Amino acid sequence: MSAGSPVQSDALAKSQGLVMPISLPEAIQTRSLTLRKPDAADAKHIFKAYTQDLDVARYLVWRPHQSIGETEAFILNCMQGWASGQRRPFILTRRENSRIPIGMLEARILPNAIDLGYVLQRSYWGAGLMTEAILALSDAALSLPECSRVQATCDTENHASARVLEKAGFTREGQLERHSVLPNLGPEPRASFMYARSR
Ligand SMILES: CC(C)(COP(=O)(O)OP(=O)(O)OC[C@H]1O[C@@H](n2cnc3c(N)ncnc32)[C@H](O)[C@@H]1OP(=O)(O)O)[C@@H](O)C(=O)NCCC(=O)NCCS
Repeated sequence: MSAGSPVQSDALAKSQGLVMPISLPEAIQTRSLTLRKPDAADAKHIFKAYTQDLDVARYLVWRPHQSIGETEAFILNCMQGWASGQRRPFILTRRENSRIPIGMLEARILPNAIDLGYVLQRSYWGAGLMTEAILALSDAALSLPECSRVQATCDTENHASARVLEKAGFTREGQLERHSVLPNLGPEPRASFMYARSR
């Protein structure tokens, strides 16, 4: 796209100061949860808790991990995401024990917006925890002048995920055809719903 185009590229807009980096906090407390930065010690816990679990990974973009080395590499990648400023993968813990992870909620930083991904250990499903985490993070993001939109996509058959987003005040904006390959469900790209909260 040329510099004269009426539509700015992300890089050009950033270089001209039109897009501010989104400065999410490094930790968030909710009624039941702590959201915090990952550290290397988290790998052994989440390997035991959920990265090997096919029921957890079914609608996600990764296959269940076969070895702790895969989970260690994943956590290292999350730590690098924080260092780069491009992603904010938060570890979720119960508030009373912020050392032991029970899931993750990631914010990918876009121009003026964040895009969410999330996962929870199966034994904690159904207690309202992810709704609570997404509400807290999206409230924090939308309170920042530089963030006007929080979005998330989910597979059209991932009913629990869609329900969580609706409970957290997100609006279903549409369906994205052939959007995402989910390796646990086959090689073909599948349809997703796009949800968002904006101000
Ligand atoms: C999706 C996920 C994060 C939800 O977390 P959670 O803490 O259990 O969510 P909540 O308890 O806040 O809410 C779940 C809601 O979905 C509903 N639900 C659960 N399974 C459902 C199903 N198969 N069909 C319809 N609704 C369903 C629950 O009843 C609840 O709604 P309610 O409060 O109205 O009863 C969790 O199931 C998970 O980690 N799944 C695997 C990873 C994943 O799919 N992540 C999302 C990728 S887009």
